[in-house]
Amino acid sequence: MKEKIIAIIGGGNLGTAIAEGLMISGEVVPSQLIVTRRRSELLHGLELKGVKTGSDNLEAVSRGDIILIAVKPYQVMEILKSIKPLLDESRIVISLVAGVDLNELGTVIGNNVPLFRAMPNTAIALQESMTLISTNVKDEQQRKLVVDLFNKMGKTAIIPDELMAAATVLAACGIAYALRYIRAAMQGGVEIGFGAELSQFITAQTVMGAARLVMESGNHPEKEIDKVTTPRGITITGLNEMENKGFSASLIQGLLASYKKVEKLENPG
Ligand SMILES: NC(=O)c1ccc[n+]([C@@H]2O[C@H](COP(=O)([O-])OP(=O)(O)OC[C@H]3O[C@@H](n4cnc5c(N)ncnc54)[C@H](OP(=O)(O)O)[C@@H]3O)[C@@H](O)[C@H]2O)c1
Repeated sequence: MKEKIIAIIGGGNLGTAIAEGLMISGEVVPSQLIVTRRRSELLHGLELKGVKTGSDNLEAVSRGDIILIAVKPYQVMEILKSIKPLLDESRIVISLVAGVDLNELGTVIGNNVPLFRAMPNTAIALQESMTLISTNVKDEQQRKLVVDLFNKMGKTAIIPDELMAAATVLAACGIAYALRYIRAAMQGGVEIGFGAELSQFITAQTVMGAARLVMESGNHPEKEIDKVTTPRGITITGLNEMENKGFSASLIQGLLASYKKVEKLENPG
């Protein structure tokens, strides 16, 4: 990775978070990064850190070994068409754009270009992203390069492209769902006596602990729940009341509603 130049086309929220995340990882130095956007003056913060910034996509692509596309879905096709003359089997293209599949992207840039899609979430800025990756590339070295890139900013999994819509919901929207749990629990914490700040701190650390228990043990959540629920106890009373009010059902229904919407965007017909 040390000698690769990474060009990020679209230095908005996600593009700059990735540039920051890569630099914080310590394995990518600022001089390996080029970031573009039309209003390049808004990239001044990155420039001060030693990143090359500008608005010339063709120049960025001509210097890049790995090209990350982080623009809005309605902008991606036009940009791909404009950079297509510079793309060949030597440059890896990674689209971060939600709702545009590998087939659609491939028809614009051609099938000889190594093409990946990646769906990170906003925790990428803290190296805690869950990033789902899809590709038709068979070359193990190229696959490893892309997985290694995103492993610097969290955890990754390679999935079939058909599951990218589901990945958008579970991982990218999932951050918002988890934050809603945190908000609700901290409000409950205020009701039972904590100040808002302390309630937020207690809730967030508790959620992080719960996530680590599942990640590190590999246990089903219910197995960890069994450890805190004593017969006739306090926890089971609360849990059953939450389920009575539709906790799990409403979460699953919400997820399905988001999924239906993202599917509609991907297949408008
Ligand atoms: N945010 C997330 O959590 C997340 C997660 C996964 C995937 N995504 C995907 O990532 C993409 C970007 O999302 P975002 O939230 O970062 O959006 P954003 O903040 O609006 O960033 C898009 C950037 O693209 C730039 N841009 C537009 N036209 C350009 C051009 N011709 N050449 C170079 N840059 C251009 C825009 O800057 P100018 O207007 O100055 O050109 C803007 O900074 C979306 O497709 C989204 O689906 C986002």
